[in-house]
This record gives sequence, structure tokens and C-alpha cells, in this order.
Amino acid sequence: MIDIQQFVADCIVAHREDRPQEAVQQVLTRAVREPRAMLAAIGEPNEAGIHPIHLSPTLTIFAATWTPQMNLLPHNHLMWALIGIYTGREDNILWRRSEGRGLTAYGAKALFEGDVAALPDTTIHSVTNPLRRFTGGIHIYGGDFFGTTRSQWDPETLEERPSDGDAIRAMFERENARWRQAGSV
Ligand SMILES: [Fe+2]
Repeated sequence: MIDIQQFVADCIVAHREDRPQEAVQQVLTRAVREPRAMLAAIGEPNEAGIHPIHLSPTLTIFAATWTPQMNLLPHNHLMWALIGIYTGREDNILWRRSEGRGLTAYGAKALFEGDVAALPDTTIHSVTNPLRRFTGGIHIYGGDFFGTTRSQWDPETLEERPSDGDAIRAMFERENARWRQAGSV
């Protein structure tokens, strides 16, 4: 069984080291090495959501859960990030800015249970849960994720806009409504 309070304390200590992202990555890698232990500590996901675990100006930790086959539009973080999957799978498309078109996809990363991805502060990615069951991951950011104005890109036109917390929350609500509806038929 994983003690979440201890996990957070370990992340905070690691974050004080010279190479904070690498140090925190080691803590996260240990924590999701036994994905079922993390799943037991966080709880089985049953809706899409962001579940804050630790919020500070320099470090943000939350569990993010995706409904089956949910898509998240391209967005940036403007700070380093780590993603550790404890249940399901998360497919990442990596994008870079391009002249004229907004973004060009240049890579992909499929994250399975127990995998940890380290993303630099320049990352732009979109995320898909390709499975017919829920995906859950621990997401860690080297800054104030919710207090930072970032960018998101329209999935069809690739037009850049400031990130919008209300729009993201509404998107999660739509996903949950879609899933409830699908489950009831
Ligand atoms: Fe992200």
C-alpha cells in the first residue's frame, strides 16, 4: 500500500535537489512501479477529473483520470512535467509550433501502467485514452499549474488560445455525461 502523504513528502524533498525533475521522476517511478498499489491508494477511477494532491507555487501534483476513449486537446504546460500511469493507458501526440499551420505533430508516446514520461517545459501535447476502460495517472509539474496562463489549441484548426479553466471543466463534464449515457444504454 502506498502512503500518499509520504509520497508527497518524498516529492517535496526531491524537488529541492539540483535536478528537481530527475529527482522527482525517481520518486514517481518508484511509486507507480506497482501500479495496483497506487490504484488502491488513489481509488478506482469512475469519472474524468483532476484530483489535486499537492498544490504550491513551485510544485503541483494531481491524479488525472480519463473516461474510456477520452481525448484532450493540444496544450502546453510552460513548466516541466512528469506523468506516471497507474491504471489504463495514455497515448500522447507531441506537437511543435510551425509556420502558418499553428502546430505540427512530430512524435508519439504510448504510456502503459507503470510507465513514467518526463516532459520538458517546451512540451505541447494532446492526450488520448485509447482503451475501453478508465485511465488514471499521477501528473507532477514544476510550478503552479493552475495559476499559470498556458495555451491550448483547437483540435481541428490548430488555432492557439489562452488556456481556459472553465472550458476544460466543461469538457470534463461533457465527457462524464457522455460516459454516463453510454453506460446506461
Ligand atoms: Fe498536459
